[in-house]
Amino acid sequence: MENTENIEQEALKEADAAKDSGALYEVKMKFLGRAGKVTALLKNMRAVAAEERPAFGKKINDLRERLEAKFSSLEEKLKKREMQEKLSTEEIDVTMPGRRQQSGGLHPVTIVKDRLVELFSGMGFEVFEGPEIEDQYYNFTALNTPEDHPARDMQDTFYLSEEFLLRTQTSAGQIRVMQSQKPPIKIVSPGRVFRSDDDATHSPMFHQMEGLVVDKGITLADLYGMLDEFAKAMFSKDVKTRLRPSYFPFTEPSVEVDVSCFSCGGKGCALCKGTGWIEVLGAGMVNRKVLQNCNIDPDEYSGFAFGLGLERIAMLKYGVNNIKLFTENDVRFLEQFRDERR
Ligand code: PHE
Repeated sequence: MENTENIEQEALKEADAAKDSGALYEVKMKFLGRAGKVTALLKNMRAVAAEERPAFGKKINDLRERLEAKFSSLEEKLKKREMQEKLSTEEIDVTMPGRRQQSGGLHPVTIVKDRLVELFSGMGFEVFEGPEIEDQYYNFTALNTPEDHPARDMQDTFYLSEEFLLRTQTSAGQIRVMQSQKPPIKIVSPGRVFRSDDDATHSPMFHQMEGLVVDKGITLADLYGMLDEFAKAMFSKDVKTRLRPSYFPFTEPSVEVDVSCFSCGGKGCALCKGTGWIEVLGAGMVNRKVLQNCNIDPDEYSGFAFGLGLERIAMLKYGVNNIKLFTENDVRFLEQFRDERR
């Protein structure tokens, strides 16, 4: 009997001292577990005189119940405290600024190219890509460029051999398209071109995009209308377009296309050099001789073509003052276009 009181005191003391639910469980096992001290008392029943056994048994069961109640209330308290600790240490501050993932972005020339392809696709143009190595025939001869034309000069063109060269214009692709497709033809052709040319606005390698439409009854008015669409979509809704007479061997008539300055609205500023207009591309009606070179009857069909420089558009659009920035791969330059939407 005395022993049970000692055990109770001992159990209560140890239970109160338990620092966490794990320690408490150890204490519980020490007394109430299968090999625990209280359990051991029951096993001693035989040593108790027969008439005392019921009272003894009741006493131990009462003790067991009291201890169980004690353990479970302590356990609840400890578990609650542990949960609170866990919640406070693992707390997430959702107001903290996130750590930005460094991601790559599209090159500005790619952004411009993609936008143009998207724009012209919307007008029903298909994309054609010609080879970067061309021969004189596609790059010059079929485009009605005379043998003695200065553009053919070694100083302007990178020759790989007598016959082969790095294309100087995506116009070479016009011939490939017209020789392999029957009108109606409606293509744009983006790609790299090469010229022996090098200053702040000229680079020996740059990108152009050619456009070609051939069908019955195509006129300069169609070209003008389409270019106006293009200028508004690419620069701003308020820009105006104007055509100036020009010369290209493969178009007749030929035009230079200007847009009203989208920086000053036409009043005159540094971007438009005070003129109110900015030259953006060359274009014209496909020369009858070029159609004939491709076995297309110029009395039945007519067409227009245009060619623009992607770097030039990007320079105008993003205010870039040196074409070399596009090929230097300086992250400080490139990352400024990371969030530029197409
Ligand atoms: N190929 C010409 C150039 O590189 C541009 C152009 C294309 C002009 C199509 C007229 C028609 O300057």
